[in-house]
Amino acid sequence: MYKIFDTVDEVSHYTAQRLLDKIKALPSAVLGLATGSTMEPVYAQLIKYIQHAPLDLSRLTTFNLDEYIGLSAQHPQSYNYYMYQHLFNQLNIPAQNVHLPDGLTTDIEATCQAYSQAISKRGGLDLQLLGIGTNGHIGFNEPKTCFNSRTHVVELSEQTRIDNGRFFSDQAEVPTHAVTMGIQDILEAKEVILVATGKNKADIMAKLFNSPIDEELPASALKKHNNLTIVLDREAAALLPQHTLKSAI
Ligand code: GLP
Repeated sequence: MYKIFDTVDEVSHYTAQRLLDKIKALPSAVLGLATGSTMEPVYAQLIKYIQHAPLDLSRLTTFNLDEYIGLSAQHPQSYNYYMYQHLFNQLNIPAQNVHLPDGLTTDIEATCQAYSQAISKRGGLDLQLLGIGTNGHIGFNEPKTCFNSRTHVVELSEQTRIDNGRFFSDQAEVPTHAVTMGIQDILEAKEVILVATGKNKADIMAKLFNSPIDEELPASALKKHNNLTIVLDREAAALLPQHTLKSAI
């Protein structure tokens, strides 16, 4: 299902409300969380909702999608740092319920295996929030990633390193590798919300709309999912066929 809004603000309200509804309906929910600039206003809105009408978050569990390899939790560009800055510092989720892949682990294989297992042990993800890369990556699952993948190490594509270079002072500082939840982990979530905003996402959203399910386009795996919502602003939706736009508003 597509939901298309005029502004980023409306996208953020809608998405934050969906997260809130999930937590209210299921206080022990397991949420899969994403990073990136798209999520910043979503998390800001969620914090506002919860500050306005406090909720018990003591039973909530979160698993983040991904993390750069080689960046510590204190590094301002690590996803761990991002999550505390934009969400966790403002919400009362017990620390032991918050999970992010460890980008500094010395045993990456064991870390990856344990991460997917930890998700399963908690009964799987109730809701997975996703952004999308301009090359169609979800999490850090780059083009050609197997759709049956579990948490694994990826070599970041040149496109992703260029896109994410805007957050680093020097392009050479962008890590070359990352650890990411696999596509199978994502597909097993009971509900998925993919959010894209801005004109730099218009091409990939049109490509995704027209694409068959194909490992060249990681986000196309989501077409197999039976509870997927794609939330876009007008700019990201600009190249979708007119009839989709009309029925999605
Ligand atoms: C990174 C993350 C993705 C995210 C993507 C888009 O590469 N690993 O999970 O979806 O960026 O980010 P943005 O929202 O900044 O466009």
